[in-house]
Amino acid sequence: MPITVNEQEKTIHLETDHTSYMMAVSEYGHLGHLYYGKRIKHVNPAEHFRFFEVPSPRPDLKREKARMLAIFPFEYPTGGTGDFRTPALQVRNEKGMSACELLYRDARVEFGKPKLPGLPSSFGDEQSVETLTVELEDPVLHLKVMLLYSVFVKEDIITRSVRICNEGKEGLTIERALSASMDLENRNFEVLGLFGDWARERHPERVKLHHGKQVISSLRGVSSPQEAPFIALLGEGTSQERGEVTAMNFVYSGNFVAVAERSASESVRLGMGIHPEGFSWQLLPGAEFVTPEVVMTYSSEGLDEMTHHFHDFYRNHLIRSRYLQEERPVLINNWEGTYFDFDETKLYEIARGASACGIEMFVMDDGWFGNRNDDEHGLGDWMVNEEKLKGGIRQLADRIRGLGMKFGIWVEPEMVNPDSDLYREHPDWAIAIPGREPSLFRSQLVLDISRKEVRDEIMDRILKVLHEVEADYVKWDMNRYLSDLGSFALTQERQGELSHRYVLGVYEMQERLVKELPNLLFENCSSGGARFDPGMLYYSPQIWTSDDTDAIERLKIQEGTALVYPLSTMGAHVSKVPNEQVGRICPIATRANVALAGSFGYELDITKMTAEEKEEIPKQIRMYHRFRKLTMEGDYYRIASWSAERPFDVWMIVSKDRKEALVTYVQVLGRPQTGAERIRLRGLDPDTGYHMETVSGKMLPSTSSLRYGDDLMNDGMLFPALGDFESLVLYLRAERAGV
Ligand code: DGJ
Repeated sequence: MPITVNEQEKTIHLETDHTSYMMAVSEYGHLGHLYYGKRIKHVNPAEHFRFFEVPSPRPDLKREKARMLAIFPFEYPTGGTGDFRTPALQVRNEKGMSACELLYRDARVEFGKPKLPGLPSSFGDEQSVETLTVELEDPVLHLKVMLLYSVFVKEDIITRSVRICNEGKEGLTIERALSASMDLENRNFEVLGLFGDWARERHPERVKLHHGKQVISSLRGVSSPQEAPFIALLGEGTSQERGEVTAMNFVYSGNFVAVAERSASESVRLGMGIHPEGFSWQLLPGAEFVTPEVVMTYSSEGLDEMTHHFHDFYRNHLIRSRYLQEERPVLINNWEGTYFDFDETKLYEIARGASACGIEMFVMDDGWFGNRNDDEHGLGDWMVNEEKLKGGIRQLADRIRGLGMKFGIWVEPEMVNPDSDLYREHPDWAIAIPGREPSLFRSQLVLDISRKEVRDEIMDRILKVLHEVEADYVKWDMNRYLSDLGSFALTQERQGELSHRYVLGVYEMQERLVKELPNLLFENCSSGGARFDPGMLYYSPQIWTSDDTDAIERLKIQEGTALVYPLSTMGAHVSKVPNEQVGRICPIATRANVALAGSFGYELDITKMTAEEKEEIPKQIRMYHRFRKLTMEGDYYRIASWSAERPFDVWMIVSKDRKEALVTYVQVLGRPQTGAERIRLRGLDPDTGYHMETVSGKMLPSTSSLRYGDDLMNDGMLFPALGDFESLVLYLRAERAGV
């Protein structure tokens, strides 16, 4: 029984294989948070409620209620009545006044997990998940708030979302509705987040939790490359292998906030949800608002364990595509190879060269439609440009299929160039504020896909092309942030709903795509990895990780991304040198070894490669085929993260049965006269002897003999320093494994 509701004692206990999450109702009717940590049986609510700190004799709280609310460990805090910390919920009444106080009413448990209407959400059958609904009420506002907790026992995951219903006769306005919040006691926490920008997304950053608020957020309309919808509190001394981690990740692709607030009383409030800035939602009598889902996990064994929880959970309970199990084709994308400068002959030549090397799918990127010869024109005109692609798109697709390859195509459905027929026909379809010239970004405007007629028309046009070419793959791009937020279709009171309605619009469009083309391999993208989040993974099993394809730049990007998301979700390509983004010249082996940690492909003009480089491709593809199952399904371990002092990166992938492992070592910069590095591996079986095979790079002498797991994990193994940007990949196979 993962969920126990003790009606008498008014306590609730959620249990997974290794964690416990506990709440209790106070004698004043508030729902308090007690504990989230290692699995235990008992906890003392009175100590957490801290009533003894309120300078008033119990039970006379009439006198000092605000003092009590200011330190009570709320499970879902509200604003306006005396708790001055960050609220999860703020509601305004018809008179414009904003206050709310929630009292416990009821709790019930069901097997399985209900869907969240219009939103991506995790799923599971009755054996794998149970859901708790805690009903709270504000009797003054006649507001019912249902806190949903779904407990995934095996993966040590609890998901949360909230249903908010107006049961009164008065119209209400939600000004803030986070999906999850909890009050913990400070344990000298550090905050870990993922930060960056375009072309350097999701670099891990760790800082001490100071007094006041530490906020990670996006107001760009997408989950953003600058700040990712992930936050973790780390206990003192937490490392990859050891220590406590409490983490939240948001199944949402728009504006979000994650906040850790350390207050004077040394309580820490951790919350996550839709960003309240610019957000409001009209809740008419009888209406309901549902928040997106937060995924929470706790690990007592460091960051590796947290990563395994998230990876297993997303693989088992979020990603729906059949390509989660099926092997994905090695693709070649023409973007960095040609940009907009191509015709059907050029694309066919690239495909021909690629197929000769064993590449399995050709992806035609931006520039095939309308008047799209650069990024100034044509976005929105989803008709093939027959001047560029003579004979049309179907003919090109057929010829490429004739080479034995699959055919994929790029689209950017959410956008429009002012210089397009679509914009000329429907200028009011773009998001803009009347009387104000909207700011362009990459010469484009955002379509108001909060409007059904806009969504339907765009999807009709795009699906027509996809059906015509029988696309095997689609890359759905989104190349700007949202600004000038105004919708011609929403009333004045509902303009604050635009950003969220926009995200709901994206979800509806992507749902239509995957329903109509269930066999499609679907990849999301947003100027590289600007919308890499679990919301998108519900629709597409992979996301283009970054427009930075340099192998060395990719190390940190992929490290941060893989901290939370399975390797199979990261689109990773070998591109040309000097690299387009940073001009670096990395050996082709390292470019491939780094890309092998994701969904592998190429992105270059193969007709311009040297013969020696081209010879490497079939070998790399064989390597990908050989290890793709292990990469897609194994446990990922981050062994070393490169820094100026230790300029090498090491990661491992270990099969669930611990009979196989892949170790990748990348030397970022070579250093003269430095000895070999002794590196401790992880995740192996201590009593198993492993054969070692160097599958890429120079063979290490220490790999010729059988090595035992206990030796490799405790004493470690020597990796001699390599030259700049060199790398090696080792394959470990258990002595008696039938591989
Ligand atoms: C941004 C993407 O990240 C690139 O891969 C490419 O598809 C371009 N957009 C095309 O405009």
